[in-house]
Amino acid sequence: QGSGLDKPAAVIVETVQGEGGINVARPEWLRALKELCERQDMLLIVDDIQMGCGRTGAFFSFEEAGITPDIVTVSKSISGYGLPMSLCLFRPELDVWEPGEHNGTFRGNNPAFVTATAALHMYWTDDQMEKHTRARGEQVGQALLALCDESGAEGARCRGRGLVWGLEFSRTERASEVCRRAFELGLLLETSGTRSEVVKLLPPLTISADETDEGLRTLARAVRDTG
Ligand SMILES: Cc1ncc(COP(=O)(O)O)c(C=O)c1O
Repeated sequence: QGSGLDKPAAVIVETVQGEGGINVARPEWLRALKELCERQDMLLIVDDIQMGCGRTGAFFSFEEAGITPDIVTVSKSISGYGLPMSLCLFRPELDVWEPGEHNGTFRGNNPAFVTATAALHMYWTDDQMEKHTRARGEQVGQALLALCDESGAEGARCRGRGLVWGLEFSRTERASEVCRRAFELGLLLETSGTRSEVVKLLPPLTISADETDEGLRTLARAVRDTG
């Protein structure tokens, strides 16, 4: 009755928080959020910039939950070749732009459009990429679970989906120590999480089983060396 705040116009969410510490949203939670947005007449925006383009298996990270967001952002891997490109996808009825109205420095980067189209044809006209990512993801998940059970890794916990995994340590600084040691051993890793308490694994989706094993062995050694 004129007293409260307006409802939010939209909710924006990552299905797996990338920089936030590899926090994986449950499919039921995502479905409940979608229903809440529908009931309250709010738009659901999925930021798929880091988790989309096949990172979790399917092309979009929300497919597994069976939801259709109103707006989706993708970037990073979308150009397939490291060229700057980003897309904001939305339902046609939400499109209030006049042709050419939404302009800016990075819009319409032609080489990126060419490589993005090539990447879509090369990787997304069958399910090979998705199957490969899921298989590699299981390989990573099993290795991390085994690593967490090792005596030198007490208090370590792992979580992830597809080819995005996080290894969290109860002693916060250990994640940075592991990354530093891994770098000395030839493996590039970064930390994530509000206190940089998570070692983040984000290998290329084209990685082979042998390369994955090699990386996981190096990671295990880095964990042991910092125990
Ligand atoms: C989830 C997420 N959203 C947005 C961004 C920013 O993307 P851009 O630089 O394309 O604006 C990033 C970059 O790391 C990201 O991880």
